[in-house]
Amino acid sequence: MILRQAVTADPVFEFAAEVRAGLLCDGQKELPSKYLYDDVGSALFEVISALPEYGLTRADQRLLRENAAEIVARVNSPVVVAELGSGSGKKTRYLLEALDTRQQTRYCPIEISHTALTMCARELSDIDHISIVGFESEYLDGLLEVADNRRVGEQLLVLFLGSTIGNFDRPADAKFLRAVRRILRSGDALLLGTDLVKPIPQMLDAYDDSLGVTAAFNLNLLGRINRELGGNFVLSQFKHEARFNPETRSIEMHLRSERNQNVTISRAGLTVTFRTGETIWTESSHKYSRPELLQLAMAAGFRCEEQWVDDEWPFAETLLMVDPRG
Ligand code: AVJ
Repeated sequence: MILRQAVTADPVFEFAAEVRAGLLCDGQKELPSKYLYDDVGSALFEVISALPEYGLTRADQRLLRENAAEIVARVNSPVVVAELGSGSGKKTRYLLEALDTRQQTRYCPIEISHTALTMCARELSDIDHISIVGFESEYLDGLLEVADNRRVGEQLLVLFLGSTIGNFDRPADAKFLRAVRRILRSGDALLLGTDLVKPIPQMLDAYDDSLGVTAAFNLNLLGRINRELGGNFVLSQFKHEARFNPETRSIEMHLRSERNQNVTISRAGLTVTFRTGETIWTESSHKYSRPELLQLAMAAGFRCEEQWVDDEWPFAETLLMVDPRG
């Protein structure tokens, strides 16, 4: 893999600043969900993906496996594939293997996690006609670079899989899609994977599994603050909670303080007070309806080319084409 690293400000400083902003506010305390994915969190997410209660990743994977040829046939070649958040790279394999083998294709995973990027490159390195150029950066920064470096006649296929878009608040998801659209041009495509609304008990179970893996995944965020920012969170004094918010149609993960307590985070220069029952909101996972998805895509300047829905676990793969007038 060729690796391009963004020159960013000190990551520890940035983490500290976001923790301070999220925990010092008067109302609901919150922490950005992207920090769930350090090495421990990423490994726990892999385990979550194998749990019987959490069908999301398997549905995504099934749809790509079963429809890879058709998806790839609908995008013009030569194509550069840019993936926002590569994860393990397992499901991307189906698409890359289905791509035209007559020419070398560039695959550009864009990831903030160095470990995830290396793992994904290793996972996919055996595919013959693919060359991997990894971007260790934020999604839009990386995508901008991929778009700038494309050669004449090359189309872009952007992959945004695994319902990661569901982690944005509304209307930040629309704003993000709009920003992606602005980087693209006529002929380019976006493959968007989204989890769909399903019965509430099923959604709650998916985020509060009986083994407690999701609880560990959530609590690891406090562990990470302890490790990287010198915090003194006592993990047993916080409990994992999954809620469904009907207004936003999102599953929310929270960490609930079990008692009145103070926590000091030395490298963030911070002491935080928690009341019994008070929570830190750590993630939202929005669940889409199909009409909502089409509306969202249209408003961002795409048109829907095709949509595939899994029949075991409601999840949609939507292939969007840049609308030249959008
Ligand atoms: C990887 C963002 C799609 O929101 O379902 C899994 C992360 N959080 N269990 C999701 C997650 C709790 C997951 N995404």
